[in-house]
This record gives sequence, structure tokens and C-alpha cells, in this order.
Amino acid sequence: MHKTINSKIFYFGTPVVLISTLNENGTPNLAPMSSAWWLNHSCMLGMSGNSQTVTNLIRERECVLNLPSAALVSAVDKLALTTGKKRIPDYKLNMGYEYVADKFGRSNLTAKPAQLVKAPVVHECPVQLEAIVKNIHSFDEPSFLKAIEVEIIKTHIDESILVEDNQNYIDPEKWKPLIMSFCEFFSLGDKLHHSRLAKPFISQCDNN
Ligand SMILES: Cc1cc2nc3c(=O)[nH]c(=O)nc-3n(C[C@H](O)[C@H](O)[C@H](O)COP(=O)(O)O)c2cc1C
Repeated sequence: MHKTINSKIFYFGTPVVLISTLNENGTPNLAPMSSAWWLNHSCMLGMSGNSQTVTNLIRERECVLNLPSAALVSAVDKLALTTGKKRIPDYKLNMGYEYVADKFGRSNLTAKPAQLVKAPVVHECPVQLEAIVKNIHSFDEPSFLKAIEVEIIKTHIDESILVEDNQNYIDPEKWKPLIMSFCEFFSLGDKLHHSRLAKPFISQCDNN
């Protein structure tokens, strides 16, 4: 029996991304988000235009997408309800958001220089993707939501999650992303079933 409901959110479960960007004064900002999807070397980020991250992305046109493993859940949770924006929008104030200038300090995460962009990588994250902004779309006028298309230009992966005999691939059995589902944190379970797509897809990638 299905019920017809009026759900306020449709966050069915996606990996958390920590986006590092540079503020106008040159200091780094760091923000958790999870409305992201991936296609080839691109990623589409769904973010509120009220965030400091979007302000920084519009100005700097670059960022690092840092993917925390499930083991980093408490560091990520320390960033919840924080913003790098000094003037906090009313709806965020009502939710209990606070301005935090040093998000790396707040989360005990370490900023290290990236190679091609000015924003830092998060050292503790096993996946660090340097990216440039290609397009910024307004999501659903008149709201402040933006769909930001970025292109990944440099990929840094912790060797512990790479396929042993092919170091250009991430081993999905070793990678344990932090998942946000309906505003709660989860990890992934074990592999369920062999996928018939895996082998032909990977050989096609190798041939291109
Ligand atoms: C786990 C997690 C996932 C989040 N996902 C999103 C998201 O996908 N899009 C978004 O706009 N905000 C998301 N938020 C809220 C932002 O982190 C929040 O707006 C924050 O203030 C942005 O920081 P900034 O203003 O310093 O950029 C998420 C928060 C958490 C803790």
C-alpha cells in the first residue's frame, strides 16, 4: 500500500562534498553539500546563492571538491549550521546558523595547497578534485538556488582506495563515501552483486 504524501525534501542519499573556495580576503572557506552529480569530467553542484561558497565561486571561478570518507563524519558535522557569510540570511539565523571565519579550524581539518587552483585541498579527504566553474544556472526563479557546472582539472586520490594493479581507477570496494540521506549521515554497505556494466564500461574508458 503506497500513501500520497507531501514531502518537503527529496534527499534520497548522495555523497557529501566539502567545497573549498577562496574568500575575497584570501582566506579559505569550506562548506558541506550533497546535491551533486557527476558526468564524465564534470560535476553539477546544487547550492543556495545565499551561501558564501556561491559568492566565492562567482568571483573566483574555481574550487576544490573534497570527498570525505564515512570516517570523517564528526568533522563534517562540526561544519553543519555554519556559514562563511558575515551577514547571515534570516532563514538561516532562525535555523541556528552561525558565522565561522575559520571553517578548517572549526572542523579540525587541514588546508594544504592545491596544484592548479588557489583554494586549498582538505588533506584528510581521500578524494580531492580541483575544478573550474564552466556555467552557473539559476535553478528555479525567483529562489536563490543555483546549479553550478564545474569541470575537474586535477584529481588527487589517496592510494589506499586505488585498484592495486591499475592506479588510474578507484576501487569501489575500498571507497567508503559519507552519504547524506534525508539530512542524516550514512555509509555504504558491502557490494551487493557483480555489475554487468563494469567490464565493458571500463574497457571503453581505457580505449578513449
Ligand atoms: C551534510 C550537509 C549537506 C548539505 N548539502 C547542501 C546542498 O547540497 N546544497 C546547499 O545549498 N546547502 C547544503 N548544505 C547546507 C550548507 O552547508 C550551508 O548552506 C552552509 O551555510 C554553506 O556554507 P557557506 O555559506 O560558508 O558557503 C548542507 C549541509 C550539510 C551539513
